[in-house]
Order: sequence, then C-alpha cells, then structure tokens
Amino acid sequence: MEVRELVDEQGTREEPPDGPARSAVQMECDLRELIGTVQNPHLQRLLAQVFGEGTATWRHLRIAPAAKRYHQAYRHGLLEHCLTVAQAVGAISATFPGINRDLAVTGALLHDVGKLEAYELHGEAISMTDHGRLFGEIPLGYYRVRRAIEGLEGFPPEIERGLLHIILSHHGSLEHGSPVVPCTREATLVHMVDNLGGRLGSFDRLEKQLQSEERWSAYDRGIGGGAYFAERPAAEQREAA
Ligand SMILES: [Fe+2]
Ligand SMILES: [Fe+2]
Repeated sequence: MEVRELVDEQGTREEPPDGPARSAVQMECDLRELIGTVQNPHLQRLLAQVFGEGTATWRHLRIAPAAKRYHQAYRHGLLEHCLTVAQAVGAISATFPGINRDLAVTGALLHDVGKLEAYELHGEAISMTDHGRLFGEIPLGYYRVRRAIEGLEGFPPEIERGLLHIILSHHGSLEHGSPVVPCTREATLVHMVDNLGGRLGSFDRLEKQLQSEERWSAYDRGIGGGAYFAERPAAEQREAA
C-alpha cells in the first residue's frame, strides 16, 4: 500500500504519520558502527558520554526530533539527522586531503546536540522550549559539549577547540545564527553537509505531502521554489514505502 493513500474506516483520507526512512533500531546499529570507526581515544570517551547505551543523554537523543518543521520534524529525527550527516562527512573525509576524519565525524554527530534542550515532544507534537527560545540551539550545544569535555581528564585542548568550533560555526554565517563562520576544513565540511542534509530532508517531507498523481510540490521556503518528483516505476515506489 502506498503511504500517501491511507484511508480510515469512514473513507476519509488520513495524514500518514511522518517518520524516518530507517527504523530506530537500524539507525542505532549504524550509529554504533560509525562510532566504532573513530580511533582517537579522547573523542571515543566523549562520544561514549553522549551516545553510550544506558546514559540519560542517549535515551533522550534516541527519540528527539531535529526540528519543529522543515526537516526531520518527527520522533527519532535528531538521530536520523546526526547519523546521516556524520555518515556523509565520514565518507567525504576520505575524498578530500587534510581532513581530520575523527574530528569531523565527532563534530557531525554532536553538531546539533543543543536541540535536545531546544525542542520537546508532547505525543507527536513538537514545540520549542523556553531554553531553546532564550538561548538558541548553538549555545546550548556548545555549553553541553564544553562541560562534558571539562569532565574528561587529559582531553587535548587542540581537539577541544576544533570540536567546539564545529558546533559554533555549523550554521555557516552570522545571519543564520552562528557567532563565527567555519574557519577549519572540518567545520566547513560539517556545515556544507548539514545544509545538504537539511535541504534533501525537505524533499522527503514534501514528497510525503503530495497526492499520488502530483509531481510538483507547492512553493517551499526551504528550497526556494517548488520541488519536482519524477514518476517512478511501481516496484521502486513499493521499496521506498
Ligand atoms: Fe543546527
Ligand atoms: Fe544540523
């Protein structure tokens, strides 16, 4: 059955529940695999604090949304977003020279950790918290990661600087909420891939809202135009559903 054609018992069309393309169990599995590729022991200790099984942060992060609207604005959206950005950053790190892969992947995994405090879920409804509105997700993320690092003895200052810079600069410009622009290769990479992930996530959201015969979405602010979806063979559509 195609997801866009859910009809309830009275015959009225229902909005399908929005959610990630992969199951939370699959995403957790992929996340653990990716974290296992980070070699630096200091970054490993930091990642264990945030993503370690049984930690309060992980329990929260596993279900948190990535946004109120636009992209990955649903349960498990933050995990999906951080994982896809980090996977892509890991892959691209091997293509371009001079990138510290461990730093870039860790920065990608943690870049939006401030959203844990910036958004809250009530059932499936997402709202911005007072903290989110008063402080913003970037300062919240910076503070959380800085405090975590301060609790880790012997954490190298150079890695700390590089990582905090990724978090602070990931929106790319002052007018988009970053206090500094990306000044390192790793921060530039995370910013660009983050943008790409958000933009492609908008296509997923818009495609789910289309009626089955429609090819164009309405104007979308995230894309700056309408999104076009070419007709796909039935078998491919069943696989994607
Ligand atoms: Fe962000
Ligand atoms: Fe992001």
